[in-house]
Amino acid sequence: MLQASNVSKTYDSPAGPLLILDRVSLDLSSGQSLSIMGPSGCGKSTLLNILGVLDVPSSGAVRVNGVEPHKLNAAQQAAFRNQHIGFVFQDHCLLPQLSVLENVLTPVLVGQPDAQAPARARRLLEEVGLSARLDHRPGQLSGGERQRVAIARALIRQPTLLLCDEPTGNLDHRSGTAVCDLLASLLTEHQTIMIIVTHSPEMARRFGDVLRLEDGRLCASSI
Ligand SMILES: Nc1ncnc2c1ncn2[C@@H]1O[C@H](COP(=O)(O)OP(=O)(O)O)[C@@H](O)[C@H]1O
Ligand SMILES: [Mg+2]
Repeated sequence: MLQASNVSKTYDSPAGPLLILDRVSLDLSSGQSLSIMGPSGCGKSTLLNILGVLDVPSSGAVRVNGVEPHKLNAAQQAAFRNQHIGFVFQDHCLLPQLSVLENVLTPVLVGQPDAQAPARARRLLEEVGLSARLDHRPGQLSGGERQRVAIARALIRQPTLLLCDEPTGNLDHRSGTAVCDLLASLLTEHQTIMIIVTHSPEMARRFGDVLRLEDGRLCASSI
């Protein structure tokens, strides 16, 4: 379960406080997804970062499975993120010196030991169509393949919440559609809560309700 209640975010600027998020509320259960659209700079990443406990709200509350992660201390927050949150960013953020398989396993190296993780990593890489690339380095993959590794890595901990911030933003149309197809099939199978930020109406329509962030408010979109 993900519940966000009246989440607001203000940044200070020389011209005075900037209200980026204005009482945003969300309520999602496992298996549900949502897409968020909106112009550049409207606060989409800020919202995802707050939901993913990479940033703090100025006011309001976030609950994930009944826990308010922003109330935890820094070490507890890191453990919480590791266990419950999977991120896919526009840039794949893979470690260039590690193999595909090792990259997928990085969340397990820093978190709780998990004896089943190597087998799960191989299964996930099979699901994303990269079984034949386990020993490749990220530099030996195409952009779409790298993003598929990033998706497998985001799912290795079987997270409650999968947050995708413009996951196809750097890809050509064909690779972007393939990543989109993959996310849709993984959502059904893994029953996570997924939130996708995208500029593509075509992609947005495939993931549950489409919302638009405008003037800090989250509203239904007509696309
Ligand atoms: N650390 C920060 N300090 C001040 N302003 C920030 C900071 N991070 C983001 N912003 C501002 O907040 C707004 C929203 O940013 P962001 O969430 O990245 O937008 P989006 O992802 O929708 O493009 C932007 O105007 C940006 O300049
Ligand atoms: Mg952004």
